[in-house]
Amino acid sequence: MSRAACIAALVFATALVFAASDGPPPWAYGFPSAAGATPSAPVAAPPAAASAPDVAPRPLTGSAASFTLAQIRDGFGPADWFPGDHPQMPEIVAHGKKPDVRACSLCHYPNGKGRPENAGVSGLPVAYFIQTMADFKADARKSSDTRKANTNLMVTYAKNMTDEEVKAAAEYFAAMTWTPWIKVVEAAIVPKTRIAGGMFIALDGTATEPIGDRIIEVPDDTERTESLRDPRSGFTAYVPVGSIKKGETLVTTGGGGKTTRCAVCHGADLKGMGPVPGIAGRSPSYTVRQLFDTQHGTRKGVWADLMKPVVANLSNEDMLAIAAYTASRP
Ligand code: HEC
Ligand code: HEC
Repeated sequence: MSRAACIAALVFATALVFAASDGPPPWAYGFPSAAGATPSAPVAAPPAAASAPDVAPRPLTGSAASFTLAQIRDGFGPADWFPGDHPQMPEIVAHGKKPDVRACSLCHYPNGKGRPENAGVSGLPVAYFIQTMADFKADARKSSDTRKANTNLMVTYAKNMTDEEVKAAAEYFAAMTWTPWIKVVEAAIVPKTRIAGGMFIALDGTATEPIGDRIIEVPDDTERTESLRDPRSGFTAYVPVGSIKKGETLVTTGGGGKTTRCAVCHGADLKGMGPVPGIAGRSPSYTVRQLFDTQHGTRKGVWADLMKPVVANLSNEDMLAIAAYTASRP
């Protein structure tokens, strides 16, 4: 090997080591810092709730119903603010199954829009939905960040559901079309945030900080999302300046052999094709988790073989850019 080739090989190898040693990006998994790291600046939690139970029924603009906080968060029958927005829920979606399966509508909402810390499940192809539930059940779909407790819960649910219940949930959510509700905004400076249950929430007031190498996805209305779990109240995802364009190049051209054009399998408009799920307009935090988990083999269902070559050579920064772009697609 010539000296030049030797140096080139070394540089390449070093680059590979760096790419492979990138840990899970904490922001995508809903943490302020990597596992084991000391968080730089602990963010003050909101004032603790008053000790007397809050039993006041809450109204929500646009809904004829009102619910107490306990009803809103009831794992076996959470609030359904807008029954007219969705078909009739199967029992497992509306109420879950005691003791081990909580209602799908608690985290994913009755309309399947979900939140950044879980997943949008409406509009997923039935065959894909059933396969991915089987992957959870077979321990072929776990989080790369073992602190992510709600992914572990999904595994527990999948293990405790019958095939009929999985099918009913799959058909219910597939019957609804995915419509975007996440606004993607490029920004160098973002609101300071706190994290509650894996979701970033803008602090009250005007405090800001540099975005860094992160996507910060926050509810547009903290009260409506955090307290009321309003399934019509969307999110804003702040992404680094220039990331959408960079992602567009990777997604639409493959970046000169770095990855594969996503449209080949996910459809021309990335809204899904046959059993392959849509990736347009979905939570960018969720998307990065899936790309990272697939790259690191914690998501390794049968169908993941098709995605492995796609993600093999991506850095965390590439994944961020790809997700910024796909989330911004209608
Ligand atoms: C406690 C909250 C919670 C509940 C309740 C819940 N899930 Fe989930 N679900 C999650 C999380 C979190 C993820 C994403 C995991 C990740 O990003 O690693 C997820 C992901 C999924 C996915 C994968 C979506 C995709 O695009 O691949 C499906 C399908 C799903 N859930 C179905 C269900 C069904 C069916 C139920 C009801 C039986 C249910 N979930 C109840 C938290 C929940
Ligand atoms: C060769 C076909 C193929 C190509 C090309 C492809 N994908 Fe996929 N993708 C799949 C399949 C199949 C799945 C389901 C994998 C699984 O369940 O493990 C998937 C799953 C995903 C998921 C997880 C979806 C969810 O709801 O959890 C994301 C995100 C994704 N792909 C993004 C991309 C991006 C971004 C590109 C382009 C850079 C891309 N894919 C290119 C076939 C492909």
